[in-house]
Amino acid sequence: MKISVVGLGFVGTVTGACLCEMGHEVVGVDLDEGKVDLFARGRAPILEPHIDQLVADVWRSGRLRGTSDLKAAVADTDMTFVCVGTLRNADGSQDISAVENVVQSIGEAIARKKAFHSVVIRSTVVPGTTRNHILKLLEHASGGSVGESFGLANNPEFTREGSAVADFRAPSRIVVGEIDAQTGDRLSLIYSGIKSPIVRTSVEVAETVKYADNSWHALKVVFANEIDAISRFVGLDGSHVMDIFCSDRDLNISSAYLKPGFAFGGPCLPKDVGVLNHWCRSNGLEVPLLAHIIAGNEQIIDRAASQILATAHSRIAVLGLAYKAGVCDLRGSPIATLVQRLLKAGRNVRAFDPDVSRGRRLATRHDYTDDALDGLDGLLADDIDELLGWGEMIVVTSHAAQYSSALSKLAPGHAVLDLSTRSGIKGRPGR
Ligand SMILES: NC(=O)c1ccc[n+]([C@@H]2O[C@H](COP(=O)([O-])OP(=O)(O)OC[C@H]3O[C@@H](n4cnc5c(N)ncnc54)[C@H](O)[C@@H]3O)[C@@H](O)[C@H]2O)c1
Repeated sequence: MKISVVGLGFVGTVTGACLCEMGHEVVGVDLDEGKVDLFARGRAPILEPHIDQLVADVWRSGRLRGTSDLKAAVADTDMTFVCVGTLRNADGSQDISAVENVVQSIGEAIARKKAFHSVVIRSTVVPGTTRNHILKLLEHASGGSVGESFGLANNPEFTREGSAVADFRAPSRIVVGEIDAQTGDRLSLIYSGIKSPIVRTSVEVAETVKYADNSWHALKVVFANEIDAISRFVGLDGSHVMDIFCSDRDLNISSAYLKPGFAFGGPCLPKDVGVLNHWCRSNGLEVPLLAHIIAGNEQIIDRAASQILATAHSRIAVLGLAYKAGVCDLRGSPIATLVQRLLKAGRNVRAFDPDVSRGRRLATRHDYTDDALDGLDGLLADDIDELLGWGEMIVVTSHAAQYSSALSKLAPGHAVLDLSTRSGIKGRPGR
């Protein structure tokens, strides 16, 4: 394919050279004549391992060019990768003025072009930017519409400086967020030489995954350093602690706990995170990431409460009261906290949880010491079908077989909120 790559910085140079290595014809475009000149002479305009050799090699193939004339590059190619820098304004918002300038010129070039042209945003932009902003700019500048005269995709770049060429050649996955299928098909074809999974999705998902990746990496660094600060405080080597931490591939370094659902709870996590934070505060240790975990968890409960209280349903039936399915322990249950909030707001709430009911029968009065449990005993129903018949809104907290089976028999008209998947309220509101 004939590809133009705009912005000969880290991302554009690596993208252009690697696409050329895969057999495509590439023209690199930049405002900076010096960079264009280097690229056009087979020299990399950036410092990065392996890039000098790669650019020199592909340049010898005759498939690599450079120009500062973006419109001519668009006219000569089938697809343009936008790789210009995105910055941060003083107020923290994104500055995508370079992307906007480039997209305006691309749109004007598309206006003069007969063939379908695909535009691929590779620069990092916040969720919603590609469809809500860039698409409108392109439509306005080109006078055409997406899927007809041009196509638009968001194909985030996940390579790291220092290993960018190796990362491009063997990414963990390639994310193609597409607005039109033709551009998605073209990108899939372009990347077919790379033996990594290609995930085709919406532009919004692609934009969001890029931020999820970078936020996760940043979070990991701060987490490791806060654990190190705690370790050092008691005379330990934080690296040794983190080595042992990382050796757990089941729960720690894995996808465990990384699916959105409801808040965490139980007898240990809230207590231990709370106690560790108290200990850090008492010892003058600042661990802002760890310090905000409980507030983040409470926010999850608040969101669910607001979602339910925003409806007019007065009878709320809750399936599952413990912090997870199959346990009878109500201590630290975020669902118990949610129920208390709903009760305080004047809603009628009843719950069904056979494990909790059994546990309550066995418990002594010393077993449970959690404020959120006050008065919950009287709310427990014995018969799930009777409870579902009573409730106007059903709040499901897990996919336990008994709940799924009872829900499948539910008459239409109930609103159902599934906290385990965070799916919105389904069904007809109100009765
Ligand atoms: N650097 C990385 O490792 C990396 C990794 C993933 C994603 N990203 C994202 O990719 C984007 C590009 O990052 P980068 O590090 O390559 O940026 P960079 O600053 O190294 O390069 C940007 C290039 O765009 C050129 N440019 C700016 N305006 C232009 C215009 N109107 N026309 C033509 N060229 C223009 C600049 O001259 C510069 O050469 C950013 O959104 C960044 O967040 C960067």
